[in-house]
Amino acid sequence: MQQDIDRILISSRRIADRVGELAAELAREYAPPGREQSCDLTIVAILSGSLIFLADLIRRLPMRMRIALVTVSSYPGASTESRGARLFEQITADVAGRDVLIVDDILDTGGTLRAVRAELARRQPRSIRTCVLLRKPAKAPPDVPADFVGFDIDNYFVVGYGLDYDGLYRNLPDIAVLRPELYTSGPGGGRA
Ligand code: XMP
Repeated sequence: MQQDIDRILISSRRIADRVGELAAELAREYAPPGREQSCDLTIVAILSGSLIFLADLIRRLPMRMRIALVTVSSYPGASTESRGARLFEQITADVAGRDVLIVDDILDTGGTLRAVRAELARRQPRSIRTCVLLRKPAKAPPDVPADFVGFDIDNYFVVGYGLDYDGLYRNLPDIAVLRPELYTSGPGGGRA
């Protein structure tokens, strides 16, 4: 697997440090000191890309929370071009009157967050905010803001730390760019 990597964009050490900082920001927002028990937060995590980020983030959060998972696909198979977000099943979590935090791996064209946000907004939560590990500012549209962002990155198709290409590389501990010849779709190699 290591020989498929062109270069590491963000090391596992930097990711761990930043996830700790994000957790501190979230704790200040949702559960200020002494009020951890009264927090009524539901985290809605978008699978599959956010699974490692989610696992690391929630273990660094001190407050009570509920966790709901939703599966969305926008990059089917060996593709680095978004084909539009598709929710695989309805979100069943009861979020009415609750604070909701959507957690995703990456904000790219914004289609995924837009679709999940719209679905949740119909259930009248008290608030909806979004937390993404990565954001591609070159593409992220203004109508889908991310409230908490780990790293802004250039317009590369990245893998690792939960992110995949054709189902592979999710288990890489770092966030990396693959060797261009490994990407089979889209002009310009992986630069989607
Ligand atoms: P959109 O365009 O809907 O994209 O904001 C969000 C979802 O698309 C996937 N995505 C990526 N997956 N490397 C990946 O492995 C990337 O560079 C990348 N960019 C977008 C991802 O699943 C994300 O939730």
